[in-house]
Amino acid sequence: MSFQIKTFEEYQDAYKRSVENPEEFWGDVASNFFWKRKWTNVLNWNFTEPDIKWFEGGKLNITENCLDRHIYKNGDTPAIIWEPNDPSESHRILTYKQLLTKVEQFANVLKNNNIKKGDRVCIYLPMVPELVIAVLACARIGAIHSVVFGGFSAQSIADRINDAECKLVITADGGFRGNKVLELKTIVDDALMQCKSVDKVIVLTRSRTPISMLKGRDVWWEDEIKKVETQGNPACPAEEMDAEDTLFILYTSGSTGKPKGVVHTTAGYMVYTGYTFANTFQYQPGEVYFCTADIGWITGHSYIVYGPLSQGATSLMFEGIPTFPDAGRYWDIIDKYKVNILYTAPTAIRSLMAFGDEYVDSKDLSSLRVLGSVGEPINEEAWHWYKDKIGKGKCPIADTWWQTENGGHLITPIADVTPEVPGYALLPLPGVQPCLMDENGKEIEGNDVSGNLCIKFPWPGMLRTTWGDHERCKQTYFSTYANMYFTGDGCYRSPEGYYRITGRVDDVLNVSGHRIGTAEVENAINMHSDVVESAIVGYPHPVKGQGIYAYVIANHHIDADKTRQDILQTVTRLIGAIAKPDIIQFVSDLPKTRSGKIMRRILRKVAENDLGSLGDTSTLQDPTVVEKIIEGAEKLRK
Ligand code: PRX
Repeated sequence: MSFQIKTFEEYQDAYKRSVENPEEFWGDVASNFFWKRKWTNVLNWNFTEPDIKWFEGGKLNITENCLDRHIYKNGDTPAIIWEPNDPSESHRILTYKQLLTKVEQFANVLKNNNIKKGDRVCIYLPMVPELVIAVLACARIGAIHSVVFGGFSAQSIADRINDAECKLVITADGGFRGNKVLELKTIVDDALMQCKSVDKVIVLTRSRTPISMLKGRDVWWEDEIKKVETQGNPACPAEEMDAEDTLFILYTSGSTGKPKGVVHTTAGYMVYTGYTFANTFQYQPGEVYFCTADIGWITGHSYIVYGPLSQGATSLMFEGIPTFPDAGRYWDIIDKYKVNILYTAPTAIRSLMAFGDEYVDSKDLSSLRVLGSVGEPINEEAWHWYKDKIGKGKCPIADTWWQTENGGHLITPIADVTPEVPGYALLPLPGVQPCLMDENGKEIEGNDVSGNLCIKFPWPGMLRTTWGDHERCKQTYFSTYANMYFTGDGCYRSPEGYYRITGRVDDVLNVSGHRIGTAEVENAINMHSDVVESAIVGYPHPVKGQGIYAYVIANHHIDADKTRQDILQTVTRLIGAIAKPDIIQFVSDLPKTRSGKIMRRILRKVAENDLGSLGDTSTLQDPTVVEKIIEGAEKLRK
């Protein structure tokens, strides 16, 4: 990994070069990958359209970089180690050689099922190796994958399938999560009642949950593999892809409307995830790297699949949850496989911390060398517990700040290379040019300042568009500030010039590291027949980071407890259990300005029980509404 930065001086040099001569810098990084044809132009961009092209003219296939090129020297190195939900079931190891064979086989299955370059494939699978195989098989033949997290409802799947007009769905009969069985195929069946574009469903056997298989539409994964084997099991040559061909779509929530399909393209994403993986964690050959995310989120795409595999790493994936069969499960896994690098979320750390140290103390965690954190701000208490209890004080913590739209880490400590400060994402990686902006569109210079975090210059892993709606991409990310990518996050820059992310400045919540749009939850709640109107805000939650607080105006005749349950059920049906409000307060009115806009600031303060600083309420249509809401909140707390 010749682009690995080893010292702070090297970091400073690399950073300087990346800003002064970005094309040369990224061209050098990109030469560490395998190209069928070299690019003619490293970067072509404007942020107004936006129109961003990296490595134009380059031809490649990302799977050759993640698989084929490792075979000669490292074919027997484990690519994927899979730990099942139930520890009594056998684990599985797939070497690079074995993974390549399986990806080629399944790529041929996709071809047999009429999937061609550019077709969209929806993947709704549990965290089993076949999920990695399915993702890479799509990339092998140039099909565009859209992975949907296993916790989303039928309606959410249908929305995503319809938006991308997917032709095929890959799912399993069911999946295991702790004590629960997720009925994945049945959920897909419900979704497909609304989806015209899908003509085939490939079903993997996992839980043996009874399911219905529709004649002509549904086929078993295992039968399709047998067909390929009887066809002589040929290899599947990697499709030649253009650098800017779409690799995948991943849906994520914004502050308005339905989730948007973030589009990542082939070469830039590959170069960026490989570069950041190797640098942030300082991965060394032979190490075991364990990322606890689900492949349904960007962290799993970039740092379970593409980043580690392009670097020939051993990536451990876990099917289950951190508290099953008990709260020592992560530590058991680290002990069992001698994990060197652990990458997890603050929510998991806080929840495991609350179970007490006895789950940690009996485990041998001495193999750990680097710790990573992702998805939400990490509070100091959790940071110290992670550092001292899990890392025994000797492991650097990389608090990686980034977003689905970014493809990979943007601001993060580099393990053992840059300093670390609890709660700080610290310094931008080479190639990343952050800046803080004020409400009037002016850059805030200097240190010890706060503002809205923007990025001034493109990096290879950034989104290119939002599927089917380029204007939305432009409006959401490139219009708030001229010539900049707006992150939606607030940020503080310390006297030393270190960055600390302070949380979203828009109406996006971060619940247990999951990104949830307030408008989406409101729309779901408003579908309930007894609901007149609703407003969602976040409030600090000791484990989840943020909890969801719903203010609901309901019809007069309701039975509050029953309606609460019905609302929860409605949200679960329309979005998924992850978006269920933690608190539902029925109100007779919402605080609105004279122009009819809900004053969320007040609702947030009430939810936080921070009544000392409600601010000016004189512009409200009816200021007495606030007192009634406060009274109601107090009753609810009792
Ligand atoms: O608010 C930031 C928060 O998560 C948001 C991005 O969410 P998502 O696209 O789902 O990606 C999560 C995994 C990359 C950001 O806008 N966020 C992410 N990482 C951090 C963070 N907040 C603080 N510190 C972080 N390390």
